[in-house]
Amino acid sequence: MDRMVIRGGVALRGTVEVSGSKNATLAILCAALLTDEPLILRNVPRLRDVDTALALLSRLGARYSWLSDHDLELQAAQLHSHEAPYDLVKTMRASFLVLGPMLARAGRARVSTPGGCAIGARPVNLHIAGIRALGARIQMRHGYVDAHAARLNGARIWLDTPSVGATENILMAAVRARGSTQIENAAREPEIQDLAAALSAMGAQIRGAGTHVIEVEGVERLHGAEHRVIPDRVEAGSMMAAAAITGGDVTVRGVVAEHLEAVIAKLADTGTEVISGPDGIRVKRQGELRPVELRTLPYPGFPTDLQAQMMALLTQARGTSVINETIFENRFMHALELTRMGADIIIKGSTAIVRGPTNLSGAPVMATDLRASMGLILAGLVADATTELDRVYHLDRGYEALDRKLAALGARIERVRAGERAAEAELS
Ligand code: EPZ
Repeated sequence: MDRMVIRGGVALRGTVEVSGSKNATLAILCAALLTDEPLILRNVPRLRDVDTALALLSRLGARYSWLSDHDLELQAAQLHSHEAPYDLVKTMRASFLVLGPMLARAGRARVSTPGGCAIGARPVNLHIAGIRALGARIQMRHGYVDAHAARLNGARIWLDTPSVGATENILMAAVRARGSTQIENAAREPEIQDLAAALSAMGAQIRGAGTHVIEVEGVERLHGAEHRVIPDRVEAGSMMAAAAITGGDVTVRGVVAEHLEAVIAKLADTGTEVISGPDGIRVKRQGELRPVELRTLPYPGFPTDLQAQMMALLTQARGTSVINETIFENRFMHALELTRMGADIIIKGSTAIVRGPTNLSGAPVMATDLRASMGLILAGLVADATTELDRVYHLDRGYEALDRKLAALGARIERVRAGERAAEAELS
């Protein structure tokens, strides 16, 4: 397994371009199942998760080709399978998002339930309840969801929690249902809005995406379309945190500042200078970092996917910070690894107390999910000596060319193939 080797101590400087949104892409790829016509997607990030989603869609009968580095043509002209197998769903839970569109297109779907993951149980009960409300007959057998519906019928659906995935699955089922559907307490994330924009380009009738109530008027069929995926706000926030933690001066380009309002506000609270301008978001930090209180919330609150990165940053703030993770029940594993590097973090249930500043020392560390991995990369950027991050495949799932992007900003970071040694010269 490849590893990342980082020698900390460099203040990052320069400009970095973020890639397209992983999470918007994964949902929109599944939406291709809703039509037999081609979908052209632009600004698609080259990620392991995108490859996994394309592998699944190919198994179902879709065909795709890369038109350029980040432009993709995808067409589910005919489907020769209705089953999303366990071996793929277990590697990437977003595969579960084929349930709604597959059912709407073919009247049946057999999708493995994703099971839990490192950050929590991550049930899919809200997905299933919503699709049942649309008239599907669903049985849970042998770890699979077996769903049938000759034609789905619009319904009024209330989500107990504003689940991103449940909102997406239900939305993709509802767009071809008979009649109208209201999804109440819907997730409001930019990725939901981007999915709705792609579906609308395909002929769907959707209002209210990005608000708590999404209204859908079902249509008989959807047609092909062209869509440009929004920028990845989590990659953008990660790069902004990298500038802040190293005391650098970085302009993050190709971002939508509106998607990052909570992140911009929280970084500013730490004393980091954040300037939104026409050519991106500039992040500068010269003085001391101040401690903050942070609570992860559904959008537009502070995103849970940037919690690990903020924890790494706050180990360098002078004082005590409090982080409250409200979305997932087990998303503090990175705290243990940061502590091994010298951070002073106490975990009490869903709250982490971070005292700083602490001098972090490089160490061999390992991550458990892709955002925890990024938190450890940020710590490595300021730690003395060398940090070696194992299981880089987690990073490959959600960050395109991360080592190249950070090295272009001056970071001494190298991706080392399994079994090889770091070229000490580059890292000295
Ligand atoms: C999406 O996951 C993202 N993944 C996650 O990003 C992100 O952290 C999460 O939304 C929250 O923003 C993709 O978009 C592929 P949820 P999702 O359903 O849809 C509970 C990353 O690193 N819940 O909004 O699975 C659930 O347990 C990933 O890119 C139910 O109880 O998140 C959790 O506590 C990590 N029942 C909360 O809702 C359900 O049926 C939010 O989960 C569904 C969810």
